[in-house]
Amino acid sequence: MNKDNPVILAITAASGIIFGVKTLEFLLKNDFRAELVISSKAYYIAQHELGLALSHEREKIHENILKFLKIENKKENLKVWLDNEIWANPSSGSYKTEGMIIVPCSMGSIASIASGLAQNLITRAADVCLKEKRPLTLVPRETPLNSIHLENMLKLSKLGVNIVPPIPGFYGKIETIDDSINFVVGKILDASKIENNLYERWQI
Ligand SMILES: Cc1cc2nc3c(=O)[nH]c(=O)nc-3n(C[C@H](O)[C@H](O)[C@H](O)COP(=O)(O)O)c2cc1C
Repeated sequence: MNKDNPVILAITAASGIIFGVKTLEFLLKNDFRAELVISSKAYYIAQHELGLALSHEREKIHENILKFLKIENKKENLKVWLDNEIWANPSSGSYKTEGMIIVPCSMGSIASIASGLAQNLITRAADVCLKEKRPLTLVPRETPLNSIHLENMLKLSKLGVNIVPPIPGFYGKIETIDDSINFVVGKILDASKIENNLYERWQI
């Protein structure tokens, strides 16, 4: 992992915004650069689930999310884009990145990626990762899953995409919701080949 290049992190309008926010926290606290793309539809869910205002202004989102995580000192390492800013850095394969994580990833975004629609910055950036053979990790959040969801995920998995559902294991010392979130975030980072010690690994 070359820390000179950013990791693209996208948050779509699915439940489990905390997983996206905590993944961002890990990246920034560990001196990775992040280009964060927020779905315009995630506003309501972030407000409802976390009391986090992901306003429709890039500068405000930047400020609010760092304040929420209490890591304002890491602002230089974070760039924020709206999903309609199709001209942004992650839209081009010529812009070097270490790949992309979409967490949480809605079934709608998964369907768009699986069919190559690339109609917003999130699905375009994912399409770029596929064509440039860069790591792409999706954290699908829906239950139960229908056959369309499963077929789309199978198609992407066969293209080398990491499909990491946010399912906590219960074998580590999982005592709090935070432990459970860290377990999932640790698994997301593992899949993306980012070293971390966010959860207790199995060893006997
Ligand atoms: C409160 C709320 C929770 C939602 N949770 C999910 C979810 O967990 N998974 C999902 O696939 N869609 C969920 N949706 C529906 C998506 O927001 C919707 O399909 C949207 O078009 C996805 O757009 P995006 O992927 O561009 O962000 C939810 C919607 C609302 C209002």
